[in-house]
Amino acid sequence: MSRSHLPEAPSIHGIWATRWVFILAAVGSAIGLGNIWKFPYITGVYGGGAFVLVYLACVLAIGLPIMVAEILIGRRARAAPIHAMGKLAAESGVSRRWGLLGWMGTLAGFLILSFYSMIAGWAIYYVVLMMKGTFTAADGSVVEGAFNGLLADPYTMLACHSLFMAMTIFIVARGVQRGLEHAVRWMMPALVVLLFVLLGYAMTTGHFMQGVHFMFDVDFSKLTAQAVLVAMGHSFFTLSLGMGAIMAYGAYMSRQQSVGVAALTIGVLDTAFALLAGLAIFPIVFANGLEPAAGPGLMFVTLPLAFGNLPFGVFFGTVFFVLVLIAAWTSAISIAEPFVAWAVEKGMNRLTAASIIGVTSWFLGIFSILSFNWMSGDEYKIFGKTFFDALDFLTTNILLPLGGVLIAVFAGWVMKETKVMKELEMQSQAVYIAWRVAVRIVAPLAIIAVLLGFFGVIGGG
Ligand code: PHE
Repeated sequence: MSRSHLPEAPSIHGIWATRWVFILAAVGSAIGLGNIWKFPYITGVYGGGAFVLVYLACVLAIGLPIMVAEILIGRRARAAPIHAMGKLAAESGVSRRWGLLGWMGTLAGFLILSFYSMIAGWAIYYVVLMMKGTFTAADGSVVEGAFNGLLADPYTMLACHSLFMAMTIFIVARGVQRGLEHAVRWMMPALVVLLFVLLGYAMTTGHFMQGVHFMFDVDFSKLTAQAVLVAMGHSFFTLSLGMGAIMAYGAYMSRQQSVGVAALTIGVLDTAFALLAGLAIFPIVFANGLEPAAGPGLMFVTLPLAFGNLPFGVFFGTVFFVLVLIAAWTSAISIAEPFVAWAVEKGMNRLTAASIIGVTSWFLGIFSILSFNWMSGDEYKIFGKTFFDALDFLTTNILLPLGGVLIAVFAGWVMKETKVMKELEMQSQAVYIAWRVAVRIVAPLAIIAVLLGFFGVIGGG
């Protein structure tokens, strides 16, 4: 049981107070809009069981090994991803240009934060609507009208987006201990309680088993190349991988803690949360005779309608959107952290750094907002997608998997094996070998195959 006895050299940003705080922070990063908003709706769009199965396979074979790689790189370097990659590249005797990989991740984070904040802003708006009882006994047209009304109104969206971004900057600016740590310590337990309340509620709808069948009955005929790409991209998004968020958090992790056990814990909790969120949402959808394939509006149309027509819907509906908001908040802070940590290492103060990333991605977010109204026309489309759709696709399905391949290659092929082993100190040889094969071969090949398959280079696109 001897973990490394190296003296604890903290990063300049400090160290998480306990092992559990690292787990809480990383799980807080992982559990977010991805689990509650995105996972149910893409599962609906791509047909249920088979999609869920591919996603689970990606988490296991690609996600977890890459998470181990990210934590290991971050902790060894004790620095923000941009510096970490450069530093470990130098240590491994290869070009410092690997630091560019840190830049790519940090840039992906900036892009993601811009639209993440917009969606989280919708959740803020819905907390208010729910509390006001807007949807009580409402029919489909009222609920759809409310959502379309929001999308058509850039000012309201901008106000909510601004508020959420300010909340994010506030936490990040306070630093690792006083900001991130304080936030996750109370928000994560709250999240779990809220989820179980909703789950219990879903079980009373009488349609629980229908939800179970929808998510777990596998029909491979529904699986397309696009579905596989989306499932893989989602495994990165939901685990916060491929852009350095987990790497940044790993830099503050104690050397006494096992990287493998931590990654497994985070992966299991995140996956469990997504599946439970699905099991909380789909029965409510079915109880109202609604369709699960509603797309991004699933959470904002189908659910409010359901809550509006169920007993105690005002209360549980409000609970639900508060849950979404908290989950998004603890994720957004981790999306900003790689940039902020890098800037602080460059000598900038944290508030300035947090404001720079916050304000710039807030500005970019305006274009996502406008892509639902003023700029929704075809003349503004990029490859047939609106600005928001294009940005989501580019980051989730391209940049994160690409970052993932390079991180895997870095940990598997570039870093010296002795250093890697020392950092991991795995108890089980078999687990170590499985991880090593995964980062060197399985994950890179699988990711590249899925990307090429999607673009029609191999197989029928
Ligand atoms: N994992 C978060 C979610 O599921 C999103 C995220 C992506 C966070 C990338 C950090 C980095 O909502």
